[in-house]
Amino acid sequence: MSITLPNNSIMLKPDFTFGVATASFQIEGANTEDGRLPCIWDTFCATPGKVFNGDDGSVACDHYHLWKEDVQLIKSLGVDAYRLSIAWPRVMDEQGEPNEKGLLFYRNLIKELKANGIKVFATLYHWDLPQHLEDKGGWLNRETAYRYAEYANLITNELGQWVDSWATFNEPFCAALLGYEVGVHAPGLAKPEYGRQAAHHILLAHGLALPAIRANSPTADVGIVLNMNRIYAASDKSEDQFAALVRETLDNQFFIEPLLKAQYPKLLNNVLPHYLPTILPGDMEIIARSIDFIGMNFYTCNHNEYDEENLYREVKKENVEYTDIGWEIAPQAFNELLINLNEQYDLPPMYITENGAACADTIEAGKVDDDQRVRYLQGHINAVNDAITAGVDIRGYFAWSLMDNFEWAEGYSKRFGLTYVDYETQERTIKRSGYAYRDLLLSRQK
Ligand code: FCB
Repeated sequence: MSITLPNNSIMLKPDFTFGVATASFQIEGANTEDGRLPCIWDTFCATPGKVFNGDDGSVACDHYHLWKEDVQLIKSLGVDAYRLSIAWPRVMDEQGEPNEKGLLFYRNLIKELKANGIKVFATLYHWDLPQHLEDKGGWLNRETAYRYAEYANLITNELGQWVDSWATFNEPFCAALLGYEVGVHAPGLAKPEYGRQAAHHILLAHGLALPAIRANSPTADVGIVLNMNRIYAASDKSEDQFAALVRETLDNQFFIEPLLKAQYPKLLNNVLPHYLPTILPGDMEIIARSIDFIGMNFYTCNHNEYDEENLYREVKKENVEYTDIGWEIAPQAFNELLINLNEQYDLPPMYITENGAACADTIEAGKVDDDQRVRYLQGHINAVNDAITAGVDIRGYFAWSLMDNFEWAEGYSKRFGLTYVDYETQERTIKRSGYAYRDLLLSRQK
């Protein structure tokens, strides 16, 4: 079983970028080494009952020590680019001074990638907020946005000459809502009014940081990574249609509309006014500063019916296929989501910055036969291709993930990698999906 695209696909042309993605906390380990400060995920992991099996990020994939080998692994997959994230607590101390040792790690890694002909897509924030900032209120504290801008200035000044693309944030939805409204991610707070305020400060931080990133790294693209699920109504009933509209507004439009139209969705004023954050004059203009791209992370869809208390309630569909993390496999939904966004907005170029599947992989005689993941990738890569054919400007696709890693609240129990990681030995084994992805990439005329 292989991954194929139509022969005339734009995705097979040399200027379409294929890559693999990871994030600092999920792979690096070494979370007390070389002056790395504690982050909110260290604290969350240490809180009983928060992370499956009590797993933590102290070793993870030991990438902090194995980075050189990992660059060769990335290269062997035939990708054009690698999407990584920088750990803020590694590179800046509590006073805001650079931590040379942490910076050296990223400088070495990035130079090694470039020396191997791999483009670098760096994300400045993939959820590892320094704990000392959380102690002052984290993303609920507007000050954090200004601290973030200082951090972004520092790191882009240090690494700006090598990085091809900067994303300010990964998934404000998860960082703000799962972290401050639902509480299943760090820092584990759960109040309805917290999530939106945290989101506003994250979006503000994004906008505040843009001028310095551009000045420090003038040849790089600068954007932000959002995550979206395609949201369906469970039936044609008008109340279920309304439920889906509410969820679409809260989960998706709440994040893209301020970036592209300098406003939060109007529906909130009428239906959920308590969800509107405190906004200071000028904030929306800062948030909507121009960007070069939007990164889109897509995994699944959901179905919603009306609920008197919460306005929507998710229902599971029968007779569909789910991955090991319980997410419905719905490539058509991906295609629809991209096309809908393109109709709703004057979009900047898009990159698919994450897409992938968790499978209950096992390794037998040195082989991992992850058939479901191969099918998942085949469906979703072709959904992207169809969206491009329909007119959506998509410039790249990154598979999540280079290798199995720390899957947040699920710990190490969910495997998303194209490469299998044996956490006892740190041995990496490319899965069948990794080979299928590589074969697709190598089949291109470069
Ligand atoms: C996304 C995260 C990424 C990974 C995947 C499965 O929400 O950005 O770190 O955990 O989900």
